[in-house]
Amino acid sequence: MLILGIETSCDETSAAVLDGMMPRSNVVLSQHEHGVYGGVVPELASRAHIRTVIPVIEQALREAEIHLREIEAIAVTNRPGLVGSLIVGVNAAKGIALASDKPLIGVNHLEGHIFSNLIEHEIEVPFLCLLVSGGHTELLLVRQLGEYETLGRTLDDAAGEAFDKVAKLLGLLPAEGVVMGGRLISDRAADGDALAFTFPRALQRQEDRLDFSFSGLKTAVLNQVNSLKAAGSSALADRVADIAASFQVAVVDALVTKTVRAVELTGVRTVTLAGGVAANRLLRSCLQEAVENLGAACYIPSPVLCTDNAAMIAAAGQHHLELGERDGYDLDAFPRALL
Ligand code: KG4
Ligand code: ZN
Repeated sequence: MLILGIETSCDETSAAVLDGMMPRSNVVLSQHEHGVYGGVVPELASRAHIRTVIPVIEQALREAEIHLREIEAIAVTNRPGLVGSLIVGVNAAKGIALASDKPLIGVNHLEGHIFSNLIEHEIEVPFLCLLVSGGHTELLLVRQLGEYETLGRTLDDAAGEAFDKVAKLLGLLPAEGVVMGGRLISDRAADGDALAFTFPRALQRQEDRLDFSFSGLKTAVLNQVNSLKAAGSSALADRVADIAASFQVAVVDALVTKTVRAVELTGVRTVTLAGGVAANRLLRSCLQEAVENLGAACYIPSPVLCTDNAAMIAAAGQHHLELGERDGYDLDAFPRALL
């Protein structure tokens, strides 16, 4: 099946053509307008999507060397996300579906992240999925595709949100450009000592609980930053890399420990990783090693399929289309949604 996927739930405009599970194209345009504000501004995001959604779709078709008439269906993220941004993608998808008389399917963005694992790997159910993005941190049991049980989730900040807030605290966000705090932390951490500071790993002693919490960690970093600032003008600058490295290892440790525990508690022998934070090099290598040490299999998508992209939306959409599901032109956008 040739599917056009469209994703506009946050600050990436993306369109992809998926041929079976093979991406023929996967165009991702990250918005640069938010850097100066230190975070994504919803109104600016939706206006930028309006400008870019059609050119990005055209580019995806061009790169795939596919004409719109050859597309068999259109899949679009319609939940959860910034509602003004979602509406832009949903309306573009509806317009194309109506004009070309193709079926339309709305996709849950979180399910899209789970499906990013199935693009490059053949994975049998049941499997576990550690889904770590800017808005969500969940440990899921995928019994069947479409049947998801949440084993644990964050009680406060999402892992990506913690990366973004700490990047801001450390003054790493660029005055202009794409706001991707996690990537900035990971780059600075490469020059730092991960043992320089001991930051807290919440809920670590509650071994039968698979939830996460990152707000205490964030506060610990804030306190450290404040005491270094009080110590003199260059004290913080000298330790930024060490703080970044020590913070990163605390997040990774919390994520890996609970995932290992989930394998032990459920007996499920396959682990997958998904969401923007899954692009983190340290998380990828530590999770892989820890899961393989248990004798279980670990699958991790390529970094471009971890951060928001439309190929994963087309993949999830394809699954629902194959089950005969369709949405009408009354398809709506929702800021919140469960899996
Ligand atoms: O899945 P995603 O692209 O968007 C949401 O659905 O939220 O995830 C974005 C999040 C951001 O918080 C970003 O800082 C984080 O993923 N991220 C990373 C890395 N690349 C992106 N976090 C840690 N290390 C990275 N290399
Ligand atoms: Zn996402």
